[in-house]
Amino acid sequence: MDSIIVEELTRDQARAELARLSDVLAQANDAYHGADAPEISDAEYDRLKLRNAAIEARFPELKRSDSPSDQVGAAPSSGFGKITHAVSMLSLGNAFEDEDVAEFAQRIRKYLGLDASENVQFTAEPKIDGLSLSLRYESGKLVHAATRGDGSTGENVTDNACTIDSIPQEISDAPDVLEVRGEVYMSHADFEALNVRQTEAGEKVFANPRNAAAGSLRQLDSKITKSRPLRFFAYAWGELSTPLAQTQMGAIEKLASFGFEINPLTKVCDGPTSLVAHYRTIEAQRATLGYDIDGVVYKVDRLDLQARLGFRSTTPRWAIAHKFPAELAWTRLEAIDIQVGRTGALSPVARLAPVTVGGVVVSNATLHNEDYIAGRDSKGVEIRGGKDIREGDWVQVYRAGDVIPKIADVDVTKRPDGAAEYAFPATCPECGSDAVREEGDAVRYCTGGIICPAQAKEKLKHFVARKGFDIEGLGAKQVEMFYEDSELPIREPADIFTLARRDADNGLTKLKNRHGWGAQSASKLFEAIEEKRKIAFGRMLFALGIRHVGEAAAKDLALHFGEWHFLKEAAEGARAAALAWRAADEAEEAERIAAAREGRRGRIKETRDGAMARCAVPMGSKVAWEDLVGIDGIGASVAMSLTDAFANTHERAAIDRLVNELEIAPPEAPSQESPVAGKTVVFTGSLEKMTRAEAKARAESLGAKVAGSVSRKTDILVAGPGAGSKAAKAAELGIKILDEDGWLALIEGL
Ligand code: IVH
Repeated sequence: MDSIIVEELTRDQARAELARLSDVLAQANDAYHGADAPEISDAEYDRLKLRNAAIEARFPELKRSDSPSDQVGAAPSSGFGKITHAVSMLSLGNAFEDEDVAEFAQRIRKYLGLDASENVQFTAEPKIDGLSLSLRYESGKLVHAATRGDGSTGENVTDNACTIDSIPQEISDAPDVLEVRGEVYMSHADFEALNVRQTEAGEKVFANPRNAAAGSLRQLDSKITKSRPLRFFAYAWGELSTPLAQTQMGAIEKLASFGFEINPLTKVCDGPTSLVAHYRTIEAQRATLGYDIDGVVYKVDRLDLQARLGFRSTTPRWAIAHKFPAELAWTRLEAIDIQVGRTGALSPVARLAPVTVGGVVVSNATLHNEDYIAGRDSKGVEIRGGKDIREGDWVQVYRAGDVIPKIADVDVTKRPDGAAEYAFPATCPECGSDAVREEGDAVRYCTGGIICPAQAKEKLKHFVARKGFDIEGLGAKQVEMFYEDSELPIREPADIFTLARRDADNGLTKLKNRHGWGAQSASKLFEAIEEKRKIAFGRMLFALGIRHVGEAAAKDLALHFGEWHFLKEAAEGARAAALAWRAADEAEEAERIAAAREGRRGRIKETRDGAMARCAVPMGSKVAWEDLVGIDGIGASVAMSLTDAFANTHERAAIDRLVNELEIAPPEAPSQESPVAGKTVVFTGSLEKMTRAEAKARAESLGAKVAGSVSRKTDILVAGPGAGSKAAKAAELGIKILDEDGWLALIEGL
């Protein structure tokens, strides 16, 4: 059963597989810990654990009481056991300007379909700069503590969490199941004192309180954690057997009554103006709080509204982080290096004399592309007042959140004598091929394509990786080998699927006769490849390694488009709109930096709108773009790189060659439980209990596909008052028609 991918397991197979994995892993644990004689390799152990966690994530209700995910110290390679969160731990979207906050509130009102008389209240509280932790209590007892990890699986740090004073180990009157979430942090005073002790003991000092908190919580020896003064603020929750309250504020107060520390600056506000006012109050106290914060978090106060608003793929619709302005620091730019990525893009990187920016030592910054270095955006409009960047320059660096550091400014008065303008290479530093720019694209690409070893090998390794095609017997090592092979090369993904055909060609030394290969291993490889010729749409898209198109985005896109050619048409069609969007983004960023430097509020919206208007985008392209970014979980950056990939001649040709070799299986609806999974639904007429956007997002989260018009493929038409021709057409085609209440009864009867 190990050969069946997790997405394709039936419920019964999943149950049996969890039982098997639990046995195999328990045996491996005993061998490892008890006998000190591992029976399976660390890599295989990790693979099995991940498989177990992935099955549990897909079928949470099948998770076993002896689940390997919950075992402390069971993962030999990482040192900590893994815990799959019962409810994912998500991150937050960001707001930078006051108007982003107004837009956030407006988006919420629109989504919920509220009229002017209905008010939405929010909570506002400091965003603590530490690391998040989820604490699970069963019958009032702390059973485990897990770090956020990748959001669905974190590390089991229970023993360490138990050493933190502000984390109660027992709670009276708590719900049977209570997961409390919050931030572990270290105060400034404790951080300074710790570094003094570390220096005296000849141990490493920490760069900032957050690193110190993270390093202390992730100690394998909990005695060390105990000696580190960590604190915990509770601000959220995961699984609950009974709701805590009806509002965010009520729930937080309930957590305080259980003995948790909650942040004293948490306040209920009645709209964007008072949110921003509270943000300024908190900002004014930032330096004297005694711990690091990096912004203010706003959350819709009513929990029923939070539930209706729900989540995008990684962030809630009902909350946002309003970040404090980025910190800036000056340093010397020592050199400009060019990196060649998987897509062939030449990315310039600034090598900097190390400098601390916002508590983190920065020694690299992105320089985006050659126009950016020259002081222009992609439309030729000046940025940084037109000043270019040269090696040896004195530059101002900034970090905003977790993003890669960037250059805000350059001080030309300190430019070394004789510093030459930077000449962006016109050839690829890895393979020497011409590196060219296509019309309307700021990025220079290596034209080497399959001959550029750096690019091709990285692409292939990603392609065959476990989350990609996962071809048994074809890993990174074999990719290197086949890449260099002159008789039977694999230089692009399509070559994998022509390998057997080429091997059958008489003029060649057969693979089975090669050094290190035999009849059996060669035929096994061909079989393994053949097995993957039919591949799930989402997996295939992810394997292409298109920038920003991660696993989740690939799945969302596959689910939305269903068939490859629909995706291809959308990506081609949206190109003009995508370029306009990029131009607007660049203009906006330049304005934001200029405003920050000049100490004024940015004219963000005008700048953005102006840049958009300068690029006349045909209506059809706008529609295609809206279709892409309208997909739940797909943002502008994913949509943008998708259009980039299809507009790049080389990448596009290689994709087409690959597609010719494959049978791409349409995606299956994700949730088998839902009565609407896999069904095509059309909404028409007016809806009274929810807005269109809400209805669509909810249907999609239940695995339905929402279409705009009625066809033979439509399964359900949800018709509100005023439904016209669509209802008539549906009736004619014999399609099931429901009113809004009928629809809600169907999906809520889950
Ligand atoms: S709420 C579903 N509240 O910020 C959203 N997060 O950027 C749950 N953080 O991973 C998060 N202070 O580690 C929330 N008052 C606060 C926070 C806070 C810090 C962290 C948290 C989260 C990250 C998101």
